Amino acid sequence: MSEPVAVSITLEESTRGKGLAPIKQEFRKTKWFEDNEVEDINTAAFGDDEVEGQKFENGDSNAGGNRKARGQNKKRKRTHVTDDIKLCPYIAAGDNDKCNWGDKCKFTHNIEEYLKLKPADLGERCVNFEVYGRCRAGYACRYLQAHFKDGKLVVDEERERNAPVTVKNGITPETMAALRKHTFNFEKSEAFLKEIQAEIDAEIAMKEENTQRRLASMLAEPASATTDSPASTIVEAPSTPISDKLKKVAEVEQVSTDIETTPSGIVTSVETSQQTEVVSETSISPAKEEQPVGPIFDINDKKKLNFKDKTYLAPLTTVGNLPFRRICKEFGVDITCGEMAMATNLLQGQKTEWALTKRHASEDLFGIQIAGYKTEQLVKACQVINETVDVDFVDLNMGCPIDMLFNKGGGSALLDSHGKMLKMLRGMQHVLDPPVTVKFRTGVKDNHPTAHKLVPKLESVGIGMGTLHGRSRQQRYTRLADWDYIKGIKRLTNDMALFGNGDVLSWEQYYQQKEESGVDGIMIGRGALIKPWIFEEIKTRRHWDISSSERFDMLKKFCDYGLEHWGTDTMGINSTRRFLCEWQSFLYRYIPVGLLEVLPQQMNERPPPYYGRDELETLMASPRASDWIKITDRILGPAPEDFKFIPKHKANSFEG
Ligand SMILES: Cc1cc2nc3c(=O)[nH]c(=O)nc-3n(C[C@H](O)[C@H](O)[C@H](O)COP(=O)(O)O)c2cc1C
Ligand SMILES: [Zn+2]
Ligand SMILES: [Zn+2]
Repeated sequence: MSEPVAVSITLEESTRGKGLAPIKQEFRKTKWFEDNEVEDINTAAFGDDEVEGQKFENGDSNAGGNRKARGQNKKRKRTHVTDDIKLCPYIAAGDNDKCNWGDKCKFTHNIEEYLKLKPADLGERCVNFEVYGRCRAGYACRYLQAHFKDGKLVVDEERERNAPVTVKNGITPETMAALRKHTFNFEKSEAFLKEIQAEIDAEIAMKEENTQRRLASMLAEPASATTDSPASTIVEAPSTPISDKLKKVAEVEQVSTDIETTPSGIVTSVETSQQTEVVSETSISPAKEEQPVGPIFDINDKKKLNFKDKTYLAPLTTVGNLPFRRICKEFGVDITCGEMAMATNLLQGQKTEWALTKRHASEDLFGIQIAGYKTEQLVKACQVINETVDVDFVDLNMGCPIDMLFNKGGGSALLDSHGKMLKMLRGMQHVLDPPVTVKFRTGVKDNHPTAHKLVPKLESVGIGMGTLHGRSRQQRYTRLADWDYIKGIKRLTNDMALFGNGDVLSWEQYYQQKEESGVDGIMIGRGALIKPWIFEEIKTRRHWDISSSERFDMLKKFCDYGLEHWGTDTMGINSTRRFLCEWQSFLYRYIPVGLLEVLPQQMNERPPPYYGRDELETLMASPRASDWIKITDRILGPAPEDFKFIPKHKANSFEG
């Protein structure tokens, strides 16, 4: 055997075996950094759980109104996100007579004084002025020179008139007021909820009747015949066994009709089982199955979407923001989805939560994802969605593993609460014109998949598409997704399109998993975060050895889109920088094609310390958060001195 082969085998063994990516020897180094600064080395950023859960950080499920908590590690210090001296936003935008506060305004109205103290511009071109002909940050823009002449703001009226509508959705002041003042007309939701209540009442009446009948027949039975123990020859006083049995029957009825438990066993409310369901294995036995479809709506009226063979960018809290999705669209992804929105926050009219429904013009097949734990909240939130925003589908989150949601009976807890899930889905379908889709996991517990019991029920209510992430709630990101199970689930489906999800990081894997499992399509999450051009690779069936400067151009574009989305004032720039850092906590995991001994890169392998082919490629591979900030400095100008970025994920140490 020739030398090189032997070397390559050794390399395979010494790297793959340990979960390390097979990087060519000539690019390897012994340690990442010469200095011994290890404190801010990123820890593996590969779990969604922490990120999905950050909405609930500080125990505040309503954090939407205060996005400070969002995307921030608890240890993360606040940075300078505003100017030291703040200009009134009306005055900044040139609307001098719009501020009603006059002398009482807490911001300065003195433009001259403000401009004297304002930090220097960061560049010559303002993306908002370029696109819209008017910059909404006005004097506060950090690229002010692009639209400032003779001491005045410049507006390009012609361009403003012809400016395209690039972003849709969000919330209008009218809807916000109606939701906050509880004047929104929920008749449609209420009609459904009433119908459901009627069903519940009928079911309770039927159950009561059955109980009565059983009790009556038991009372009529001779005692000896009801005793099946070996001691049946002993004739007991009839009252004892029968009263025991009565007690037992009563207990069973109690469990099946009265109590709502959470998966952790906490009784959260005492309701009927029709509204909620006892979470236990028995709750999904055929005997207790729900009547799937009520008479209230016709599922055939739903607009049908064709999802088949399309690529789907996963909903990704924080990192799946609109600017990032634009990048993915440009690389050819077909379906995009907003970050998970909480029904409760939407119903409270929280602007930041409604911002998650925003859709860029390039997103031509776009849905939003909603999470909740009460049927009423979900149905009502969907009614508002239907009446106020433009989406192609609404996805119900049945996979979120976070305790906060799970313990209340939402997210992946729905996997074991079929009755409640069906009511939610029927209600959502009743109030929504666009189709309802679901995203779910294999089950709650490890090694105990239950999704196969769910699928016929999803089909029975006419769900347009289901996406199965091939992991359980308990499993989190340990071990790879179970594509064999996904394949089994695909075989169970009839009309419902099934997408598979988990670990796809290359076009080969994409086609292989798709063909082997037979799914209608594949959703990609981390693969898109690590290399958004994966969608192009899938379409062209080739590996793209993208250069560091091409990657840098992509980051520059992201920043342009970020400034357009979050604004060009100090605060908008800070947000753009922070979201770029969050993204970088995935991007740095990309290993350039030309550096790999064996293709393709695998999701569960981490790179050993290595050099890139140029300075920028080396910097981009750095697992150190301070290096990610350096990358942002090259695009957004130097970060404020006290800008610190600590990624949320504190899982396994990258080095260990
Ligand atoms: C940063 C991050 C945020 C996520 N946010 C959501 C979310 O809001 N809703 C959701 O259903 N799944 C969310 N997930 C899970 C992904 O959608 C996807 O199911 C999971 O990452 C597995 O796919 P992958 O192996 O292609 O990444 C998130 C995952 C990550 C990594
Ligand atoms: Zn003012
Ligand atoms: Zn500007």
